[in-house]
Amino acid sequence: MEKIWAGRFKNQLDEKANDFNSSIRIDCRMFRQDIAGSLAHAAMLAAKGIISSDDALAITDGLGGILEDLESGALVIDYNAEDIHSFVEAELTRRIGDAGKRLHTARSRNDQVALDLRLYLLEENRELILRLKNLIDALSQKAEEHKATIMPGYTHLQRAQPITFGHHLLAYAMMFLRDIERLREGQKRLNISPLGSCALAGTTYDIDRDLTAGLLNMENITINSLDAVSDRDFCLEIAAVLAMIMMHLSRFAEEIILWSSWEFKFVELDDGFATGSSIMPQKKNPDIAELVRGKTGRVYGNLLSLLTQMKGLPLAYNKDMQEDKEAIFDSLDTVKACLALFCPMIGTMQVLKDNMQKAAQDGFLNATDCADYLVKKGLPFRTAYKITGELVAVCLEQKTILEKLPIAEYQKQSELFEEDVFAAIDLNQCLKNRISAGGSSPASVEQQLEFIRTLL
Ligand code: ARG
Repeated sequence: MEKIWAGRFKNQLDEKANDFNSSIRIDCRMFRQDIAGSLAHAAMLAAKGIISSDDALAITDGLGGILEDLESGALVIDYNAEDIHSFVEAELTRRIGDAGKRLHTARSRNDQVALDLRLYLLEENRELILRLKNLIDALSQKAEEHKATIMPGYTHLQRAQPITFGHHLLAYAMMFLRDIERLREGQKRLNISPLGSCALAGTTYDIDRDLTAGLLNMENITINSLDAVSDRDFCLEIAAVLAMIMMHLSRFAEEIILWSSWEFKFVELDDGFATGSSIMPQKKNPDIAELVRGKTGRVYGNLLSLLTQMKGLPLAYNKDMQEDKEAIFDSLDTVKACLALFCPMIGTMQVLKDNMQKAAQDGFLNATDCADYLVKKGLPFRTAYKITGELVAVCLEQKTILEKLPIAEYQKQSELFEEDVFAAIDLNQCLKNRISAGGSSPASVEQQLEFIRTLL
């Protein structure tokens, strides 16, 4: 295939150099966006009298045919081509002749690739939001079922205070809601057309950049041509949000791994989302969750690789920037795959309520409530804290729990204790009493669910 830039060169590009230089294996997935951009560009060129309407018609028909044939598989991508942009242009010219050679008037691959990537990432951004919403839905459903299921809440992975499983799940829902917000904000900066910035300095043709932007449903045009062709902030922003999503998924995965262990036994993964061992017949391993945790590394890596690619680049376009797509596409594919698996994994996992309840009964989760009981009777919190600490020490010595400690023992520490202390330290009561906004009470979980429903 002849290079679009043949002319200045006497000899062909070395075969290995051609392979090395080519990006089509990676960027061919942007063929729809490339064609959409070209259709808008051709329509604008005709509207401004830069090409004839006959040529524009031939280009439109030709591109329509190429799109159809690529979709159906009738046209196969030629991996010897340099990139998707030159492939489509060459194919167009092969099909319609000279009119095809006019398409690249007042355009460069530099503004073309910036446009294609923006359009592609816009679609992916919307798809990601949908997938995150699905996950939040799955979490909300489970949280609704378990808004009163008591489990220990942890700090330092030490049992701390009683929470519900619903409350715990919704903590993740909040993270994913923020991820959606970040993606939505990114759309503002993504939905801007660089087309017409050309190679780096704009063009001498009287083009109408607003027209092409409008045809592409983009909200605005970039206002500095050098920036337009050398900016990849929009790509980095998504890469950063993707890294954040993976960080959230990875923490969640880690908990699922812990909860499925014999040590915790809080959940049992459905057989569809766990695997066995080749040697140990008893094993049921949380491979899917582990892989999500593991794949977080590559998504972080992609972010760092994009940042590093860009940091030393003089204005404007440099070929280094071709590396952006491999990184961002890998992050997108990885995150989408992880989200797709997380929904059914959460949806189908069995929640072992009794084990959670049992764990909540050990570990003095109600010690803070016991101190609060004394505070309500007038003691300063620090004094109440110390007395309760001493009670915990007595329990540990007598191998019992606060609920079972005789009232006489309580009264040895403080005469403010009366029989009603047992109601105050009952775990269900402790939960209900957490009335502060955003707390772990079933009523608060209900409010959180309402918040999510109205937001989505
Ligand atoms: N394949 C290139 C990329 O992805 C397209 C832009 C090429 N521009 C150039 N001046 N060589 O970045």
